[in-house]
Amino acid sequence: MRTRLTLALIACAVVASLTLPGNAQKKGRTRPLTTSQTMAGLIKPQLTILKEGLEAEPKDEDAWKAIATSAALLNESSYLMMDDGRCPDKVWSEGCVMLETATKDILKQVDAKNATAALAGVEGVVASCKHCHAEHKYKKR
Ligand code: HEC
Repeated sequence: MRTRLTLALIACAVVASLTLPGNAQKKGRTRPLTTSQTMAGLIKPQLTILKEGLEAEPKDEDAWKAIATSAALLNESSYLMMDDGRCPDKVWSEGCVMLETATKDILKQVDAKNATAALAGVEGVVASCKHCHAEHKYKKR
């Protein structure tokens, strides 16, 4: 009887840890990259390069190339964050769609070498961060 209860409690804890908000978003199912690493090593640095590059008004081909690279990496991140069972809910997928759309628009402006319009597009990127973080980043785990 006792063993049964213990087993039931363990099963319950496992189910809770899998379904409670705050767990799914830490890492995907099979790949080693954590969300924290994606944010700190990829998403945040690329947003900084993108924003500062546009604010400095790109002077030559190399500067535009660096900006396009950052925008494309941020665009790719929106897919990465949906892969491998990473997406726990609607807010998360909405955030990823916002990130994808905003960076695609920026890439169009970068093609047209329009720094002002591209910089305006960065606001859409920042909105995607806020959308997802409002629900996920500060949740106790
Ligand atoms: C789809 C959801 C989502 C989007 C979009 C998102 N983030 Fe995050 N972010 C998270 C989650 C979840 C964490 C907490 C990860 C953890 O601590 O396990 C996080 C944590 C972070 C951290 C802290 C990383 C650390 O050192 O642990 C930074 C910085 C960050 N995000 C920056 C950004 C920026 C900048 C953007 C927008 C360009 C962004 N994030 C967009 C979900 C998102």
